[in-house]
Amino acid sequence: MSDRPEARERARHVEHPVNDAPGRPQLAHHLDEVKPPSTEEILRVEGLTVNFPTDDGVVQAVRGVSYAVREREVLGIVGESGSGKSVSSMAVMGLLPKSARISGKIIYRGNDVLKMSPKEQRSLRGRKIGMIFQDPMTALNPVYTIGDQLAEAVLSHETVPRKHAMSRAEEMLALVGIPQPKQRLRSYPHEFSGGMRQRAMIAMAVINNPDVIIADEPTTALDVTVQAQILEKLLEVKDEVNSAIILITHDLGVVAGTAHRVLVMYAGKPVEVGETDEVFYRTRMPYTAGLLGSIPALETASGERLRPIKGTPPSLINLPPGCPFSPRCPLATDVCIESEPPLAATDALDHLAACHHWDQLAESDDPTVFFRAESEVGR
Ligand SMILES: Nc1ncnc2c1ncn2[C@@H]1O[C@H](COP(=O)(O)OP(=O)(O)OP(=O)(O)O)[C@@H](O)[C@H]1O
Ligand code: SF4
Ligand SMILES: [Mg+2]
Repeated sequence: MSDRPEARERARHVEHPVNDAPGRPQLAHHLDEVKPPSTEEILRVEGLTVNFPTDDGVVQAVRGVSYAVREREVLGIVGESGSGKSVSSMAVMGLLPKSARISGKIIYRGNDVLKMSPKEQRSLRGRKIGMIFQDPMTALNPVYTIGDQLAEAVLSHETVPRKHAMSRAEEMLALVGIPQPKQRLRSYPHEFSGGMRQRAMIAMAVINNPDVIIADEPTTALDVTVQAQILEKLLEVKDEVNSAIILITHDLGVVAGTAHRVLVMYAGKPVEVGETDEVFYRTRMPYTAGLLGSIPALETASGERLRPIKGTPPSLINLPPGCPFSPRCPLATDVCIESEPPLAATDALDHLAACHHWDQLAESDDPTVFFRAESEVGR
């Protein structure tokens, strides 16, 4: 760790940004208190691409995503809006519209999901892979009670008496922290608060003991207090049912306290992948450094607030050659405009970055410095 005061200050905030952030509640249940991941791989995504033909041209929404998730692991997928986080997960869940052209491999416990029959795929999804959406109202049916919907989730995969399914539903509501679960089974979704609906969604996602839960911005619509409670509940429930989590968020602060590993996406591709601490403390991709600089809690030693990344992500139709981040990157040179860097190993084992100049970040005590005005850093 560096001796420079601003780097130490940054590291202090980065250590648990969710907890340190002013106005944000403490996450009582830290990642180091949950059961560690095993070495057994459950889900592997290899070279996934998703294109959408449109009247304006082909949208290259996902341009080669690969990752693996181990039992009980929490993998954070982070990136700005439109980077392909949801589309890549929807592909895993088989929830993309028919117009989507998908290639690559999605391997669940050694079997290629894209080669399975529709029946096999259905039994996998919702049973072995659960999903939590940002807006529970898109997943909960307003005309059925919470109990009916939870029981139906069981009955669609298992032949058990309805009474049995209902008592599982009650157990799950209790597990996610809904008081008086027996009575609450009879409530309709609109009778629940936003936080309670999200808890009910978690109950729905885990009711069949999945191996993996994909949580797509599960806390974005909630206020910060409820956000922390839901994240905490997710970590607790994960241990209870022994599942892994793919946690999708645009907020790097959220994954700091909750993910073992992080995959940062930009323009449909992973641009940095590694252990969460590696990515936070030894950032090797300017885009990640830019995201770090825009975490609201992060301030420099002088108290000056760091800046969000200037500009916007590129259109995914007819992407020009070169690094898609180059128009926004303070380190861009000619080579960046000519060729797109592959995702490759950096100076640490299992820490990958897609950047021609990652070594420049390695030489800097504080990579977020590149995103401050030149006059402020005296370059
Ligand atoms: N059905 C579709 N047809 C055409 N383009 C689509 C379709 N669905 C998604 N896209 C495009 O794919 C790209 C990736 O979208 P995606 O929803 O995965 O982004 P995201 O990273 O989840 O963003 P957000 O943080 O806003 O949820 C975007 O450019 C989006 O406009
Ligand atoms: S390849 Fe070049 S433009 Fe892209 S992130 Fe690295 S330095 Fe910036
Ligand atoms: Mg999304």
